[in-house]
Amino acid sequence: MTGTAPGSPLMQSDRPMIEITFLTNGSKVVSAPENSNLLRVSLREKGGIPFKCGGGLCGTCKCRIEQGRESTDAIKPKERRHLTDEQFAQGYRMACQTFVNGDISVSWEPQADPARPPSIAVRPTAAAPAPTAPAASTTDAE
Ligand code: FES
Repeated sequence: MTGTAPGSPLMQSDRPMIEITFLTNGSKVVSAPENSNLLRVSLREKGGIPFKCGGGLCGTCKCRIEQGRESTDAIKPKERRHLTDEQFAQGYRMACQTFVNGDISVSWEPQADPARPPSIAVRPTAAAPAPTAPAASTTDAE
């Protein structure tokens, strides 16, 4: 009887692996199977590309392929609703509509959190007066 099972076949992929560099996320580099959807890789690996719908409707996942543009698939009609020909020429794509078949680097505009004001001032609490550093009493050493 042979009872040996091959190791973790569920996580294996027959596809060659590629590298995706998420420039706006500290240049985080992750590996993914060839022909992966860019937004799915970002979600799985915490790449950080912003998104809402995941289906080409909202335009949130707009990103720019900085390197490896030739390793992305054809532009989809849904992308044309959000991006101009000029933007495509500059490397912009919608991550949820883009499949990657080679190494790329991608950047994007960080999204402002609409629930928060653009800048948050730190207010001192009334109970705690602003700390003032007591003057260090240095003795005049001789
Ligand atoms: S996440 Fe909405 S268009 Fe890509």
